[in-house]
Amino acid sequence: LENGLARTPPMGFNNWNTTHCTNTFNEAMIKGIADIFVNRGLKDVGYTYVNIDDCWALPTRGSDGNLRPDPARFPNGIKAVADYVHSKGLKFGIYTSAGTKTCNTAGFPGGLNHEQQDADLFASWGVDYLKYDNCNNQGVDAVQRYTKMRDALARTGRPIVYSICEWGRSDPKVWTWGPNTGNLWRTTGDIADNWSSMIGKAKSNRVLAQYAKPGAWNDPDMLEVGNGGMTATEYRTHFSLWAIMAAPLLIGADLRKVNEDTFTILKNTDVIAIDQDPLGKQGTVVSNSGGLVVYSKVLANGDRAVALSNENTAAATISTTASAIGLGGSASYSLKDLWSKQVRTTTGAISASVPGHGTVLYRVTPSGTINRLEAENAVLSQGV
Ligand code: DGJ
Repeated sequence: LENGLARTPPMGFNNWNTTHCTNTFNEAMIKGIADIFVNRGLKDVGYTYVNIDDCWALPTRGSDGNLRPDPARFPNGIKAVADYVHSKGLKFGIYTSAGTKTCNTAGFPGGLNHEQQDADLFASWGVDYLKYDNCNNQGVDAVQRYTKMRDALARTGRPIVYSICEWGRSDPKVWTWGPNTGNLWRTTGDIADNWSSMIGKAKSNRVLAQYAKPGAWNDPDMLEVGNGGMTATEYRTHFSLWAIMAAPLLIGADLRKVNEDTFTILKNTDVIAIDQDPLGKQGTVVSNSGGLVVYSKVLANGDRAVALSNENTAAATISTTASAIGLGGSASYSLKDLWSKQVRTTTGAISASVPGHGTVLYRVTPSGTINRLEAENAVLSQGV
């Protein structure tokens, strides 16, 4: 969506994966996450949006028709939380559904036929991001429902990132109309905190690269990194694949409770730079030999990111070449391993031994190109 927002994939937090609708989701948690974003340096590496999901509202609208925050979770209302998040230099996001009720069985009121009133209310609270779910939609056409909220948000005059949560279920598929309607659109059902769920989302999402661009991103769902159901190796794969697919990086763990490994993964600035590369090209699969998968992503400065990803349980060697990833013609290349930080030089072979469920992520730089540029600069600086 060309609304000037999400020029790179959104980065932030959403409580759903860790709390669902339980009463650990409340004002104290959201403020605590905002504090950690600042105190633990997550804000410094790009995490910006602190978003709340389903279950923040009371089950009925007020007499004025407005949505009302649940006073047990948000005793000071939503605006107070948004103000707190803004006071930390961060942005605040909210959730509702493009139906008569949200998805939770408790059935909180949804936005269908209340689009402008709800958009105006959110804008008055200082909302910067809306996730718009798809439950209880009464069979009304998805394009119509999501377009109506897009236009309502635009009429508020407030810049609000628009996240379409339609899951790719109905026809026409959301990735065909999502780019004109929202800043991101879910391409899958809900992720769960285990390997098979996570890798399943990656498989569904990686075939959709052609639809992604600045302002418009495929969304394979929020991160599970730190929630405890996968190994550190698997979480590094999760983070590497989301980065090479230019997916939104929305932390889904309660950062007040996670271990140091979690911060190390989430704060890997080399990996974040792959996700946030300004060219905004989603990486694609170059080869897949029985679950030994090579992905490549074109980067703005001409480098490539390459992921050697092992979907099997046994360790294996995964190989590709500079020319296979579209970088032929240079005498040599530097390979930076973005997890180990080791740098080595190759004349073209790109290969690694990868543990089961592991991913080796490289940044590949054609050193010949750099040498040529350096030589040209040297000539120029001599005034030739
Ligand atoms: C379904 C969505 O896909 C989830 O991400 C979450 O928002 C739940 N609904 C909330 O009910």
